[in-house]
Amino acid sequence: MRYAIVYVSTASKDLEKKEIERILNSSKTWNNENDVTGLLLFSEGNFFQIIEGEKKKISELFEDIKKDKRHHDIIQIFGKDIHKEAYDGYASDFVLDSADYDQEKFQHYLNQTKVLEKSAQIAVENILKVFLPI
Ligand SMILES: Cc1cc2nc3c(=O)[nH]c(=O)nc-3n(C[C@H](O)[C@H](O)[C@H](O)COP(=O)(O)O)c2cc1C
Repeated sequence: MRYAIVYVSTASKDLEKKEIERILNSSKTWNNENDVTGLLLFSEGNFFQIIEGEKKKISELFEDIKKDKRHHDIIQIFGKDIHKEAYDGYASDFVLDSADYDQEKFQHYLNQTKVLEKSAQIAVENILKVFLPI
């Protein structure tokens, strides 16, 4: 069984750009090696993350993520069984400001939501649109 979790969180006040880069890069590496797909974005002090993969692995990863001192006020938007295969690897990115906005990248982020069922996909797309400084 595959499972997906979507949440938003607030980065710790003193979190430096270098440390955020480290989180984005190490998450991408570990997730791609462990067949975890989804998306991790950082924008204006907040994280937005979708993790999707084998259920036990996702539950354990989320427990680790929740304990991580580099962010707080984690709000889980949902956790759901997924019946579709994951397909597009793991993407992570800084979204700094609207000057960085790029239609192709946005489409890629939206594609990551396609592993979710339709109703969840629409909800996440809407959150993503608010989250991204477009
Ligand atoms: C916002 C945020 C998102 C994270 N996402 C992931 C992730 O998707 N995959 C991952 O392996 N680690 C992620 N981490 C890092 C984990 O919290 C943790 O440091 C990592 O799993 C290593 O755990 P360990 O030191 O217990 O081995 C994230 C951390 C933060 C703050």
